[in-house]
Amino acid sequence: MKVIKEISLLREALRDKRKDGSTVGFVPTMGFLHEGHQSLLKRAREENDIVVLSVFVNPIQFGPNEDFETYPRDIERDEQAAYEAGVDFIFYPSVEEMYPHKAGVSLIVNSRTNVLCGAKRPGHFDGVVTVLTKLFNIIQPDQAYFGLKDAQQVAVIDSLIRDFNIPVELVPVNTVREEDGLAKSSRNVFLSEEERQQAPAIFKSLQKARALIDSGERNPEKVIAGIKEELDSSTSGEIDYAELLSYPELERVEEIQGKIIIALAVKFSRARLIDNIIVEI
Ligand code: PAJ
Repeated sequence: MKVIKEISLLREALRDKRKDGSTVGFVPTMGFLHEGHQSLLKRAREENDIVVLSVFVNPIQFGPNEDFETYPRDIERDEQAAYEAGVDFIFYPSVEEMYPHKAGVSLIVNSRTNVLCGAKRPGHFDGVVTVLTKLFNIIQPDQAYFGLKDAQQVAVIDSLIRDFNIPVELVPVNTVREEDGLAKSSRNVFLSEEERQQAPAIFKSLQKARALIDSGERNPEKVIAGIKEELDSSTSGEIDYAELLSYPELERVEEIQGKIIIALAVKFSRARLIDNIIVEI
């Protein structure tokens, strides 16, 4: 396994490896790896000859009052986890390497962003698609792996790849959870002990929503009310959003049918956590 910080060196290394027709699987991350990231790496390892992991906390996808500075970082631990997962190359660029000067051209996401995190974090997905376009151009992977924990991100990247004819296959991977149901997240370390005990209520409320739908409920508002009730009674966290939308279009629906997403964001004192389930009727 090699850790490479320069774009030119990574390109050179991959060019050599690709000569014999080897396929490249790519897992983009912001580091502080956990089992969620590991499951993406595992899939990439199973399905490709070469696996590239990027670790880059991308400043342009954070808002001015968000946690860019405090986002957890531990490259040594990440290197160990990547080595164990069979990664061939870690791309670990500096901010200066990725953004050496003010951008002359930028990307703006027009659809699938007026809801959920897109609505709450203005400019966030513009920053995500910009960094991913750069990473796709640098690495030129055959397949790129993304977690459905960030289902809106998957929907936006699906648009990016299709709208810009990027020759990469998007592979969505299911959410990995703790035993009590809490979705694994790099930000879980910011929960206090008490909040950590309350946080599984997020997934429980999503399961309650699924149960309501399974029992025949087709009114989105009633399902959302069920979620809010469950959360309000069991956590001190503040609901940032709770929405039920079509997936992957992310449009509001009058009646629950087809493929839908139920998505939640909950603010605790030092961490904002997101989770979702996708249900097909
Ligand atoms: P990051 O939050 O580090 O996540 C990297 C990848 O891991 C994403 O595809 C995310 O959906 C996936 N992931 C996180 N938690 C997961 C879990 N519990 N189960 C399964 N997959 C999980 O998402 C980003 O970084 C950035 O926006 C990035 C795409 C790297 C662009 O900067």
